Amino acid sequence: MKLGRWMLGTAGLALAVRGGVRRGHERLRLSRAKQRGLVGHVRMAKRVAGLVPFYEFDEHDFFRADDPPEDVVAARTSGFARLSQLYRERFPKTAALTAEMRESVPDIAFTGAYRVPFQFSRLVREQLPSGSVWQRSQGVMLTDLDGNSFYDLTGSYGVNLLGTDAYKAMIARGVETAQELGPVLGGLHPVVADNVRRLKEISGLDAVSFHMSGTEAVMQAVRLARYHTGRSHLVRFAGAYHGWWGDVQPGIGNPVPADRTYTLADMSEATLDVLATRRDIACVLVNPLQAMHPNAGGPGDSALVDSSRRAGVDRAAYSAWLARLAETCRANGIVLIVDEVFTGFRLAPRGACEYFGIAPDMVTYGKTLGGGLPVGVVCGRAELMRRTKPDRPADICFARGTFNSHPYVMGAMDAFLDWHASDEAAVAYAGLDERWNARAASLNARLQAEGLSPRVANLGTVWTCLYTRPSRYNWMLQYYLRAEGLALGWTGTGRFIFSLAFGDAEFAAVADRFVAAARAFERDGWAWGPPGATDRDLRRRVLREVAAAKLGLG
Ligand SMILES: Cc1ncc(COP(=O)(O)O)c(C=O)c1O
Repeated sequence: MKLGRWMLGTAGLALAVRGGVRRGHERLRLSRAKQRGLVGHVRMAKRVAGLVPFYEFDEHDFFRADDPPEDVVAARTSGFARLSQLYRERFPKTAALTAEMRESVPDIAFTGAYRVPFQFSRLVREQLPSGSVWQRSQGVMLTDLDGNSFYDLTGSYGVNLLGTDAYKAMIARGVETAQELGPVLGGLHPVVADNVRRLKEISGLDAVSFHMSGTEAVMQAVRLARYHTGRSHLVRFAGAYHGWWGDVQPGIGNPVPADRTYTLADMSEATLDVLATRRDIACVLVNPLQAMHPNAGGPGDSALVDSSRRAGVDRAAYSAWLARLAETCRANGIVLIVDEVFTGFRLAPRGACEYFGIAPDMVTYGKTLGGGLPVGVVCGRAELMRRTKPDRPADICFARGTFNSHPYVMGAMDAFLDWHASDEAAVAYAGLDERWNARAASLNARLQAEGLSPRVANLGTVWTCLYTRPSRYNWMLQYYLRAEGLALGWTGTGRFIFSLAFGDAEFAAVADRFVAAARAFERDGWAWGPPGATDRDLRRRVLREVAAAKLGLG
């Protein structure tokens, strides 16, 4: 009896030890698959972000944050004053309406404050008054309230693939298509069937669901993956954006813990190891835009405290990575979701899936697919898209949405898909990559020839600005670009999004203005960095400031 109990106890202990060792191994494996630094350690990043105290530069220190000599201070001071006068003269109405709305529209306050590193933000806002209120668009131009025209590099967050005129026409067509039925919801307009047929062809998948935004499409794809696999966790890659839903934004920006999300390193063997062995992973989300900067967040100028921003696309390497990722997911029953909300229809007719040669289980689309109206779409394999289980009628996966499949949106989408199937589209897509790569190369050659610091890197029509010399003031370039009539989104020089409506002449004008802005930026001392200083030195300097402010020594 005693011996039996002893044997049972020993066996139990052995099992517990083995379980503990296995869990230890799993945890170690998971920790190896995290990208180094805060981008890979999202909880830590949130904790660190919470510790950063507010401090800002006054008018004296604003120009001296990197201990420049007095001639550089003088150049910066007079350049800033000149720019300030130009902004006041040129943008009074646009700036006034933006300022009026700032208090009651928190999004304006937020994007206004985070255009530049927070230490510089208030003075920039006060001295370079502008805004993002637009009166008109035509061709590749935007016009503000003061009648100034800008080349549109905002790209409407990526929606604008074809030029705004094309979307105006598609929306008008959408209204015409839906006119007779009107905004009847719940039941479907017949045009939906046509959209579904074409989306199945484009995605190569069996079924389609319609939603109201890219964020919702991603939510639905992940929910279905969890439902059908019975597994809890999603995997996203470090730095990747998939909308603002909490589960796909586990770190800074989301006040709620995302406990069922693993943030793993992109293009990493250790990640494949985790995917091959864990049993709790329902799906992996891929945002192919990350090919430009794997394991780094979307480049925004608010984080531009040095010149360490990197970008560049190795198409072959990223394609090879995605192929291995797909194989690993398939072998372990993990649903592979390619989030084409941004890249869909932009890189190639069939989006990043075509461009990088990947066949996922599910794809999400949005942005341009709505023909200028709000939309999110999920395409997936039939068995993953089902909302029910044949043998368990009460076990359902609920997803509705009042405005899903809105007739006017479906009509505008139909117009977009007509364009997509047209000869005009075939011409637009032909040689797209070569054309935009050549444009980037020609601009870089000009910048280099003049010894200017900025460069551009691109994935087709999506561009980012890099800086070749360490400087703490690169974010100032966006204000020179605006002065030259180039409109940027709130992430500043981090993203220029071109539409295909930019022909050679329009691009040449943009390039001239870009070079002119980079020259003025250089002339006014913003590209200057302390002799011999590296980006790391600049970051250390910022850390010292943060520490001093935290200790109340600032
Ligand atoms: C890859 C990706 N997924 C999802 C989203 C979210 O889409 P939406 O802003 O329409 O909710 C975005 C938006 O930028 C995106 O780029």
